[in-house]
Amino acid sequence: MLSIKDIMAEKILMVCLGNICRSPTAEGILRQKAEQRGVALEIDSAGTGGWHAGEQPDPRAQAAAKKRGIDISYQRARQLTASDFDNFDRIYVMDESNYQNALMLARNIEHRQKVKMILDEVYPGKRMPVPDPYFGGEQGFDHVYDLLSEATDAILDDIENKQK
Ligand code: 4NP
Repeated sequence: MLSIKDIMAEKILMVCLGNICRSPTAEGILRQKAEQRGVALEIDSAGTGGWHAGEQPDPRAQAAAKKRGIDISYQRARQLTASDFDNFDRIYVMDESNYQNALMLARNIEHRQKVKMILDEVYPGKRMPVPDPYFGGEQGFDHVYDLLSEATDAILDDIENKQK
């Protein structure tokens, strides 16, 4: 049976460039933390580019998540669409380039206000990027994981505070 919490579940979309490294990791971590805290959320992820649509997360992202006990292998990449701005309450982007590309699909002020730099949840107003790990080594994926773990805790703190 649906509870009032489910009906009011916030819808959160994680966005990066390819939707195979950073945003699937963010989706997986937020899903696990929300379950652990008992916060009802709808969570998805997308890429501003569509080159990897239909693919599983990058094997290095899968491995970094698996080391921490999170399975993200079920996810499949998709491209961000204009309708995502109607369907989601918050759209978290990883870097300034994602931010600019996402805004091009926003059709009004309400849509634009949904787009936030994810690390601003931890370092407000600093517009710090979650660095793109795609062309680097495995340690880049661990770093991304740590940043996103911090950011998703801050997102859940914010949601829990608003529900009080
Ligand atoms: P993501 O990383 O945006 O974190 O998924 C990338 C994935 C693919 C590419 C670039 C970044 N690419 O150039 O194909």
